[in-house]
Amino acid sequence: MSATIIIGGAWGDEGKGKVASYEASDARLVIRATGGANAGHTIVFNNRGERHKIALHLIPGGIVYPQVRGLIGQGVVIDPKLLIEEVEKLEEIGIPFVRSRLRIAGRAHVVLPYHKELDELKERLKDNPIGTTKRGIGPAYEDKKARTGIRVYDLLLPVEELEKKIEVATRPHYQLFKDNGMEDRIVSPKVLAEQYSQYGKVIKNMVINADILTEEVCKNGDKIVVEGAQAYRLDNDYGDYPDVTSSNCVTAGALIGAHISHKCVDKVIVVAKAHCSRVGNGVFPTEQLAHIENDKVTEYDQPFVGDVIREICGEYGATTGRPRRCGWGDAILLKSACSQAVTGADYICLSHMDSIGKVGNILGSIKLCTAYRYQGKKIYFYPDDMELTGEVPEPVYTEFAGGWDIPNTLRDFDMLPEKAKQYIKIIEDIVGIPVKYIGVGPNNNDVIVRDDV
Ligand code: IMP
Repeated sequence: MSATIIIGGAWGDEGKGKVASYEASDARLVIRATGGANAGHTIVFNNRGERHKIALHLIPGGIVYPQVRGLIGQGVVIDPKLLIEEVEKLEEIGIPFVRSRLRIAGRAHVVLPYHKELDELKERLKDNPIGTTKRGIGPAYEDKKARTGIRVYDLLLPVEELEKKIEVATRPHYQLFKDNGMEDRIVSPKVLAEQYSQYGKVIKNMVINADILTEEVCKNGDKIVVEGAQAYRLDNDYGDYPDVTSSNCVTAGALIGAHISHKCVDKVIVVAKAHCSRVGNGVFPTEQLAHIENDKVTEYDQPFVGDVIREICGEYGATTGRPRRCGWGDAILLKSACSQAVTGADYICLSHMDSIGKVGNILGSIKLCTAYRYQGKKIYFYPDDMELTGEVPEPVYTEFAGGWDIPNTLRDFDMLPEKAKQYIKIIEDIVGIPVKYIGVGPNNNDVIVRDDV
């Protein structure tokens, strides 16, 4: 068993990249399994004395380690233009042999320009838009399920055959554009086929049958890291439907997307923040008031609690730059995310333990949700019938007076402030699995790893 699976424990942006990077340092293969350019992961890399910071949306961040091979698996929906730009950016900052170490599953689906137009249009036609990232993710997965999607393999077809496939795929979409006065967005299948077959030529040598690669690595018992994208509450089945993404981002979805079976799994790490955040619409029980309107921060004199958390924790989207909705940490949500049935979690990675301490220093206390009041009862799980009941669970908080200071350089769990340890202990008691990784700063290596759990 060789695979470490990293899953988001809330609504995304939990800091999965940091633990993924830590785990990838001794891995043979790192895999992006689900989602697409809706995810964003910032890489900080030092080369020849220069510090580079780049945001990767498709390529797994572990590619920065020269011994690691990277795979973009079949569960991902790929914007090939962006993918090529990311490869070039990595080469520019001196990451060696990217094209010979990165592989792309031929069965992965492709995001085309009409998917992005559809994403905007479908949001516009809804009474309650989801607040998607507008990267065309949902429409690309819709085409996949409708069996009219364009796959990476198709980009390698003779251009006339690709054109035929695009023509079939776009028929219903272009009708929808016409019905909604968007004729100007129609790009002829011929033009698209020519453009996308050029991308095909650039990526051709990286395209493979990924089953063979993962089989070989699993059989050798070499370490695989699956970098999860999005999160438990954004999962198309488990999440806050309809305010979810279009992929399955819990463990089961990650396995399919990564071309591996449950037999390859060594451990599952669920990543959560000491506070919570969400972008886009949908329920958020511990959300705190903030000065945000239409995805923008409005002017204010006195910050609300949500503003303090957002500013101290730097909660702005890596993909869209949107200010994130912020709230207190939620141990009940995390308990549900770590369920043995849902994610089969072995360990928790709790990020931003330093930031929440600062929030407490400013606000005079830190709150952690340790139960919900829902339908007249105190409950200890995340309910899934909120649309039916019309009720959002009301958090019951445990409050910690003051805050704490954790230097980014701290690596010894025993040296954490007592209150921070108590905060972690309460989470462990509620969730029932250990917090093995603790994020204490913004850099990739600002993490305490407990060897004793
Ligand atoms: P979509 O995935 O672009 O269709 O967006 C669906 C919902 O998931 C929206 O609320 C997005 O804000 C959210 N979402 C998608 N990807 C991410 C992510 O990487 N981090 C946080 N939220 C995300």
